[in-house]
Amino acid sequence: MEKREQMYEGKAKKVFATDSDEYCIVSYKDDATAFNGLKKGTIAGKGVVNNRMSNYLMQLIEKQGIPTHFVEELNDRETVVRKVTIVPLEVIVRNTAAGSFSKRFGVAEGTKLLCPTLEFCYKDDELGDPMVNDYHIIACGWATREDLDIITDYTFKINEFLIDFFKKINVDLIDFKIEFGKTADGKIILADEISPDTCRFWDATTHEKLDKDRFRRDMGSVEEAYREMMRRIFG
Ligand code: TMP
Repeated sequence: MEKREQMYEGKAKKVFATDSDEYCIVSYKDDATAFNGLKKGTIAGKGVVNNRMSNYLMQLIEKQGIPTHFVEELNDRETVVRKVTIVPLEVIVRNTAAGSFSKRFGVAEGTKLLCPTLEFCYKDDELGDPMVNDYHIIACGWATREDLDIITDYTFKINEFLIDFFKKINVDLIDFKIEFGKTADGKIILADEISPDTCRFWDATTHEKLDKDRFRRDMGSVEEAYREMMRRIFG
């Protein structure tokens, strides 16, 4: 696979074309943003952690029968992925109240939810990624009913799998955000990343935060948290 011109630069990743129409190469940066890009910084080594962790989890999720964009890890920061059109939704699952859920609904952070919840946000930085429901999504043409049914089914299965996976390394999966894409032949597959940028991980014993909230909330020991998640997963 030959790496060609840069197609896109996002807040945490760059995407490059390849000599194949079906594939592109993502390159993970150490850049970190929060609050729709208002807060900016770098987290040394983050790109490596997110690349390796996301690739590892996607391969395990693929084994659960859920298709993903993962193709091949090229090096510490770069991965070949299937080319998709991103469904412009942030798909958020919550097992325990935290973050914007706690703020919006007045439920204390750390309150275990009676069942996992699902939220959709429309991906648009200028609008601040507003929360939307099924009717909004279908009416605006961001996804069809059929797409949403598949996305919902995959998402709850991914949640069950990830809860068990992280439990084994003494981490509670509080919540996470995933994104899906559509291939040229119309198949919905898991895309983007699964990493400490996109999940809340709390140590199951001490409830210490091991994710990007340490950056968002200026808690310090940000790099250490990413490294600790890496250590627990890969030893
Ligand atoms: P929230 O509580 O701020 O809505 O975040 C819910 C989950 O989504 C949390 O695990 C962090 C993740 N997330 C992203 O991946 N990207 C974002 O832009 C935001 C706001 C949250």
